[in-house]
Amino acid sequence: MLKKSIEEAINNQINAEFWSGYLYLSMSMHFEAAGRPGVANWFKIQFQEELAHAQIFMNYVNQRGGRVVLRPIAEVPTEWKNEADAFEATLAHEQKVTALINDLFALAEKEHDYATREKLNWFVSEQVEEEETARQLLDTYRLIGENGNGLYQLDRELASRTFNTPSPLAAE
Ligand code: FEO
Repeated sequence: MLKKSIEEAINNQINAEFWSGYLYLSMSMHFEAAGRPGVANWFKIQFQEELAHAQIFMNYVNQRGGRVVLRPIAEVPTEWKNEADAFEATLAHEQKVTALINDLFALAEKEHDYATREKLNWFVSEQVEEEETARQLLDTYRLIGENGNGLYQLDRELASRTFNTPSPLAAE
């Protein structure tokens, strides 16, 4: 059985994952409208990944006999100056999510909830990747600047991103 403090914290994290998904879907729709289908695809896959993160937490709460409570998803921004601006916002957001996961990990340790701590290990590693990818794409877009050919080539590259079910979900 999950302690109430852990259940509450995971429910907050589920909301944060849905918010992240909503943010990236908003970015995807922005770049669709701006005629950048590749980066729009990249953010749409990112949206799917965030829903998968929420799903992993929801499955875990259910597995431990807890109660998932879905709360309202707050409004997200809808406009970005360009791709670099969106990836700067993505990196800043992922750094915040990393801090949330770390707080959750610390709470699990404080409550001696080692099953939750174990579940969070995957998210700790995932956040390293999420920050790294956002940083790399931000650096690349900054390098390209306003170069039309570079923007076109990178957009084509990002169009090939596909969704892979995260391992904790694939294993269920
Ligand atoms: Fe669910 Fe982008 O971390």
